[in-house]
Amino acid sequence: MLTLGIETSCDETAVALVRGGRLVGEKLATQIDVHALFGGVVPEIASREHLRVLPRLFRELLDETGVEPEEIDNVAVARGPGLLGSLLVGVSFAKGLCLASGASLIGVNHLWAHLLAPGLNGELVFPALGLLVSGGHTHTYLISSPTEFELLGRTLDDAAGEAFDKVAKALNFPYPGGRFIDELGSEAEPDTKLFPRAFIDNPSLDFSFSGLKTAVANHVNAHPELVFSEMADADAVKQLSGERREALARVCASFNWSVADTLRIKVERALRQAGEVRSLIVAGGVAANSMVREFMGRLADENGLRLTLPALSLCTDNGAMIAYAGSLLSEAGLHHDLALEAVPRGRV
Ligand code: KG4
Ligand code: ZN
Repeated sequence: MLTLGIETSCDETAVALVRGGRLVGEKLATQIDVHALFGGVVPEIASREHLRVLPRLFRELLDETGVEPEEIDNVAVARGPGLLGSLLVGVSFAKGLCLASGASLIGVNHLWAHLLAPGLNGELVFPALGLLVSGGHTHTYLISSPTEFELLGRTLDDAAGEAFDKVAKALNFPYPGGRFIDELGSEAEPDTKLFPRAFIDNPSLDFSFSGLKTAVANHVNAHPELVFSEMADADAVKQLSGERREALARVCASFNWSVADTLRIKVERALRQAGEVRSLIVAGGVAANSMVREFMGRLADENGLRLTLPALSLCTDNGAMIAYAGSLLSEAGLHHDLALEAVPRGRV
């Protein structure tokens, strides 16, 4: 079975081919530089970029892998959640391919695909507790099989990645700033009293990160000398030195700790409620964060769970995870017809 995956839900256009659970080839074009000018993703620009780039990426993927379009058995496409206009580009392209070649169409939940992605490099063990931490979502799931996800907790306001991006913006770091906070923060010890861990003193499995973001913004407003006066580029962050670098590193480390420790507390609570699980899967862009990886590793050890993390290249949006999730759905006998719709939010 050869499955093509198409990802256009946000600001990466990506295609990949998976056969027998292994990656055959992939192509990815990021729009980060275009959106960085605006400090965030501009939906209208995103969909136009997908439209411009997707046909070329698909052609390049076929050329590089030597695959003919007729050889593709399944066309899997991220149907949501995401930006409606962007999703529609991928879904329409997928339908066109299926119509032309007779391949089967499979609509994939982008969030589930993130959580299944580590299966590309290793074994997924079920039942699993899944933590999805991305730019748009912070969800915990009880995952009984590749097709059975029960939502346990979710963010009530900002997603974890959104908090990273907004704090990075307040510090005038380049967009998207999660990586810079991670890297600079690794140079300092966190002050665990500096910022709050919001919404933890309750039995809820839900998350809230907007208060933390505001606390960092208030701290920055009180210490304007800390931050860049205008949006920095990666070189400016690299060149930062002396006391200012130390002070900013401490802010980054302390904020990062508050996020990582909040995730730890809520995942531990979810584990207690979920009953018997055998593994902990952590996925999404923020799963690339070194402190989050460390905290989740410790939590898994303490609970005798296997920890499953995607390779760093599979944490942020990519086509391989869509192709792989699509191949699992196909194995389970699940396909869509051409009436498949994009689902920008809510139940996919
Ligand atoms: O999963 P993803 O590519 O996009 C969505 O589907 O939302 O995740 C992107 C998010 C961004 O918010 C980005 O700042 C964050 O992941 N991110 C990180 C790191 N690398 C990416 N956040 C913290 N530490 C990192 N190392
Ligand atoms: Zn994503």
